[in-house]
Amino acid sequence: MLEAAGRVAMVSGAARGIGRAVVQRLLAAGFQVSAGLRDPRRLDPAPGLALHAYEAEDIASATAWVAATAARFGRIDALVNAAGINSKARLLDEDEAALDSLWRVNVKGPMRLLRLAWPHLIAGGEGRVVNIASLSGKRVRNENVGYAMSKHAVLALTHAARREGWEHGLRATALCPGFVDTDMTAHVTKLPRDHMSRPEDIAVLVETLLRLPNTASVAELLVNCQREEML
Ligand code: NAI
Repeated sequence: MLEAAGRVAMVSGAARGIGRAVVQRLLAAGFQVSAGLRDPRRLDPAPGLALHAYEAEDIASATAWVAATAARFGRIDALVNAAGINSKARLLDEDEAALDSLWRVNVKGPMRLLRLAWPHLIAGGEGRVVNIASLSGKRVRNENVGYAMSKHAVLALTHAARREGWEHGLRATALCPGFVDTDMTAHVTKLPRDHMSRPEDIAVLVETLLRLPNTASVAELLVNCQREEML
């Protein structure tokens, strides 16, 4: 396993849910963490933690966050894309607004951060990218096809990063949970909350993915809280 100490990880969507759990886990493991949040006041300051404004719909905020992280820490070893939305976009919806926002936040946001952080990620020869995709990136199981399309695209983005980054030591993983007990699933009633995955358990997997050596890379990690026939 790679040492956590001295390594710098950027985490988007850090205000709550999976992103917040990842920040806490990585700090506890000894990483230095640059957290991207729409409102940086949503996290308390802590040793080894930098807080930055990040709004996925605003290109300038992504540029500024990456630049500030590199300036403060002098390196970026890992990028965890956890920011995401699940606005509803059904197959026959005439209004494309929800589909457009899913594309901007869930796909273009992570792709842009990857592009901006790329020179730093490949500089040390052991860069890591974890994109929080979803089992909705593996199959279409409900009417929100827009969300599933966006997460399928995150899988493609992850494989593209692996293809372009491999020779530079960059390793990327699409982490694909089912239901996780966060605000995003607050409306879900078909599954009791204590049957959902815990954000803290997803964070353990993220830490492991960031610390596995170049010779033990996981392309896709599927996480089930309930049995499915094919996944
Ligand atoms: P959440 O709703 O609790 O947190 C999402 C985070 O993303 C929030 O901090 C929010 O501020 C941030 N965010 C949303 N729009 C943003 C924007 N435009 N710019 C910057 N940040 C923005 O949701 P959760 O569950 O923590 O989700 C994290 C990721 O995990 C998402 O990509 C989601 O699609 C994915 N996921 C969640 C699952 C679940 O069941 N909760 C299952 C599978 C994947």
